[in-house]
Amino acid sequence: MDTIKAYVQEHKERFINELVELLKIPSVSADTAYSQDVIDTSEAVKVSLEKAGCNFVEICDTPGYPIVYGEKIIDPKLPTVLVYGHYDVQPPDPMELWTSPPFEPVIKKTEIHPEGAIFSRGACDDKGQMYMHVKALEYMVQSNTLPCNVKFMIEGEEEVGSKSLGWFVERNQEKLKNDVILISDTGMISNQQPSITTGLRGLSYVEVEVAGPNRDLHSGLYGGAVANPINVLAKMIASLHDEDNHITIPGFYDNVEELTLEERAEMAKAPFSLEKYKKALDLNDVYGEKGYVTNERNSIRPTLDVNGIWGGYQGEGAKTVIASKAFAKISMRLVPNQDWEHITELFTKHFTSIAPAGVTVKVTPHHGGQGYVTPIDSIGYKAANMAYTETFGVPAIPVRSGGSIPIVALFEKELKSKTILMGFGLDSDAIHSPNEHFGIFNYLKGIETIPLFYKYFVELSKK
Ligand code: BES
Ligand code: MN
Ligand code: MN
Repeated sequence: MDTIKAYVQEHKERFINELVELLKIPSVSADTAYSQDVIDTSEAVKVSLEKAGCNFVEICDTPGYPIVYGEKIIDPKLPTVLVYGHYDVQPPDPMELWTSPPFEPVIKKTEIHPEGAIFSRGACDDKGQMYMHVKALEYMVQSNTLPCNVKFMIEGEEEVGSKSLGWFVERNQEKLKNDVILISDTGMISNQQPSITTGLRGLSYVEVEVAGPNRDLHSGLYGGAVANPINVLAKMIASLHDEDNHITIPGFYDNVEELTLEERAEMAKAPFSLEKYKKALDLNDVYGEKGYVTNERNSIRPTLDVNGIWGGYQGEGAKTVIASKAFAKISMRLVPNQDWEHITELFTKHFTSIAPAGVTVKVTPHHGGQGYVTPIDSIGYKAANMAYTETFGVPAIPVRSGGSIPIVALFEKELKSKTILMGFGLDSDAIHSPNEHFGIFNYLKGIETIPLFYKYFVELSKK
């Protein structure tokens, strides 16, 4: 047995217990009720980096939540790996759908995780995946095998748009200088088939308000005679897709990068079962843009989705009322070459223009970011593939993901370096959903695989 495997076996109970302690702190960045917990989590991350063997760790204040920075510089002439992750988590709601409380982690077996999985908000996204890097560093320091310099930058606002991180990166270019950025905040195909994420979608997130009469009205006395903001909003939203499920905003597709038939054929080689996909979600059919298959619809194609919609009476029983206002939160997932700020403008212009007389419409942009694609011939990609091949016994498959980590495009722009997305989560881990979990197998496999990335990255850098 090689030494990293042996080290993981020997220390796995402790590795799990340490992660459990971190998961107990409810670091929900979206809700200010948790702000002290978010700050406490940054402290816990700092301590963990110190214990793992960083020779310098600090909490960096920002206009928002702090960023934890740590480093172990062994020789400035050697390459430097910058690890990025986030310690904040999504809100846990709806609470009643959790089978155990979101901030009281428990290990349960599932069909996909026969060795058990840790159930807790943040288990996979991203505390568990971030902490694999801390434990991989511990191993490399303890075994004296760290082959290069390492820097950690762990933020607390990823789930709300990483505003302060952009601010921080712009101001700390020298401190963050690196040869490659390594992130585990994505997924892989299955525990038998590793994959490396080569693309992320961009994002534009907006909120809309449709306002009608100056107060809520009796729906009998006024119904039919004034515009009902909820009816109007529903109609406006419905009009944003045509019958082929194309988005109808003028100019929306102008810069969309079209893949060649060869590229699409290559994508189709990745193992995927539509039957299993439907079964996992209890769906009688899939849905989406005409002319594209499921794995294209959720990765290389842009989308528009309502994430929340409200207005009017939502309480018990019936109340006859026409609401004065109706609201919705809308996200657009974007693909390379679509600029998120431009798309936000196109949306705003179009949405305002389709409002009928009798209502006024307000569009408020929330946050956004650019998409990302990375080549598979870089030494970072090759090193990651060699690492996965060694620990899983099969090479990794390149896969473009539908999710977004907007900061990755910013890293390339500001720090001029490529990001390698070595994810260990599975789609079935229910990130952002009730009962989020992270497989023990995945957690330990990640800790095993990461040191090999360092080893091969340094070896390939010498050539
Ligand atoms: N880790 C996810 C993104 C992700 C998950 C990418 C799985 C690929 C595979 C990240 O924490 C996230 O949730 N990002 C947000 C965007 C952010 C700006 C709120 C997202 O994709 O909704
Ligand atoms: Mn994440
Ligand atoms: Mn997330």
